[in-house]
Amino acid sequence: MTNHADILILGSGVAGLSTAIKLAKALPEKKIIVATKDTKDESNTRYAQGGIAVVWDKLDSFESHIADTLRAGDYENDKEVVRMVIENAPERIRELISWGADFDINDKNTYDLGKEGGHSANRILHHKDITGFEIQMTLLHQIEILPNIQLLPHHFAIDLITEHHTEGRKTHFGEKNITCFGAYIMDEKTQEIDTYTAPVTILATGGAGQTYASTTNPIIATGDGIAMAYRAHAKVSDMQYVQFHPTSLYEPGKSPAFLISEAVRGFGAYLRNQEGERFMLPIDERAELASRDIVSRAIDMELNKSGASCVYLDCTHLDQKAFVHHFPNIVEKCRSLGIDVAKNLIPVVPAMHYIMGGVVIDKWGKTSINNLYANGEVTCSGLHGANRLASNSLLEALVFGHKVAKHIVDHQDVFKKNLPSIPEWNTEGTTEPKEMILISHNRKTVKYTMSDLVAIVRSDERLNRALGHLRYIYVDTEKLYKKVILSPQIIELRNINACAYLIVKQSLKMKENKGGFYSIDLL
Ligand code: FAD
Ligand code: SIN
Repeated sequence: MTNHADILILGSGVAGLSTAIKLAKALPEKKIIVATKDTKDESNTRYAQGGIAVVWDKLDSFESHIADTLRAGDYENDKEVVRMVIENAPERIRELISWGADFDINDKNTYDLGKEGGHSANRILHHKDITGFEIQMTLLHQIEILPNIQLLPHHFAIDLITEHHTEGRKTHFGEKNITCFGAYIMDEKTQEIDTYTAPVTILATGGAGQTYASTTNPIIATGDGIAMAYRAHAKVSDMQYVQFHPTSLYEPGKSPAFLISEAVRGFGAYLRNQEGERFMLPIDERAELASRDIVSRAIDMELNKSGASCVYLDCTHLDQKAFVHHFPNIVEKCRSLGIDVAKNLIPVVPAMHYIMGGVVIDKWGKTSINNLYANGEVTCSGLHGANRLASNSLLEALVFGHKVAKHIVDHQDVFKKNLPSIPEWNTEGTTEPKEMILISHNRKTVKYTMSDLVAIVRSDERLNRALGHLRYIYVDTEKLYKKVILSPQIIELRNINACAYLIVKQSLKMKENKGGFYSIDLL
């Protein structure tokens, strides 16, 4: 079956939904389809805790937020993009508030601004410790009242449609004349793969945390958009920069890992080792509030030195009434495990949290493929450099949602062009897979390969060993992919393996340790 939209958006997190809302309001006559692979509210966005960074306080300044973003990014950021995002932030946040987002107010009746690692000022707007949920629900409510948006849950994008499909032409990386005409999308209820044609496609499929065994990301974060864009020969960069959040709750065998927000350290919590020492004090003048790459590496070193399984967050000295008020979700989670945060230390370990790399976009969210835009964690926009500053991600998606929409509104000629004839997805010769166990086994192998060999501290030897495992899985998976009737499981395996491969290959090219990339061979 072929479906047509004027604008096709893949993903329903903050990036996909905010872009859809802006476009639907500006172009009410255009049909916008948002296809998303799980329920409409399942995304990384939904689990965001700390909040959104924005210069709001009169004593704060754009220059200070810019300086913090650059320092956290190890100065690998694109300075123009950093300025653009940070200066646009207040307007975008006001817009989000006008759509209904509710941020916490303090007793002076102004927004309660939190603090997180790497920030030199209090500038994080938040809704308790469930800011992402508040944003996700606000955006979904807007989507419901916009008649020109059709939201399709359980619709899994498999591949972008380019000349590779329409002309059977081989495309190449670096080629200028590749064009996107939509995507092949599986309806997960029927397992049918349909053709969705569109003059404009926007990738907003989020991150790739599931490439690792230990991650704060939900199971949808399998790097599908990065892998699809890479297969279509879009430019993908900076995949070596992987952010490990320092404080995921230590619960062996639990995946995804529950996050203990950095805002908890911003509120005054200490990190302690097995001996009860505040080990961050001698490492960085910001101690527990150094940027994430520094804190995660310090924890990794502590664990290697002591052989312990975790370090601890100490909240016992904090104002408990205020703490519970600010972090009810975290307190409740700890309580459910018998941890009373007023009396007990919280066991924590680093976990894969965010990928700085992704599909390269320009200041308007345009990728290297014509008529293909991207927004959110799937991208490499230049904002984050080698390590993202806390709470800059939700912000990035809101600002780029606005930019992408503006660019499309200003270039409506694209809607007048005829699309080429597009073949239906070819299932000829495929059969039901005999054993799903091979797919789940390979998925585990990719994830443990990455967690064991390509984590916070890397080396060429470990990277090459990982490459061997990933190549083996690539060959196995491609064989299966050509033979069997497709399922989300095999597509996701293919995608996490592609992202893992890109992380390893781009790591092997590094000549210097920067932010979320650190190799003992480069010391
Ligand atoms: P997502 O929100 O992940 O949305 C991606 C969407 O694409 C989902 O709907 C998914 O189902 C869909 N999708 C994926 N693949 C496909 C496919 N093949 N076909 C169709 N649909 C697909 N950032 C902050 O700024 N502040 C915070 O406080 C914060 N806290 C965080 C806490 C946690 C636990 C986590 C995991 C992340 C946190 N982050 C935070 C990071 C931030 O939440 C994400 O980077 C951001 O929400 C990404 O938004 P997105 O729209 O790009 O992706
Ligand atoms: C957190 O609350 O610690 C996560 C914030 C972020 O990822 O930006």
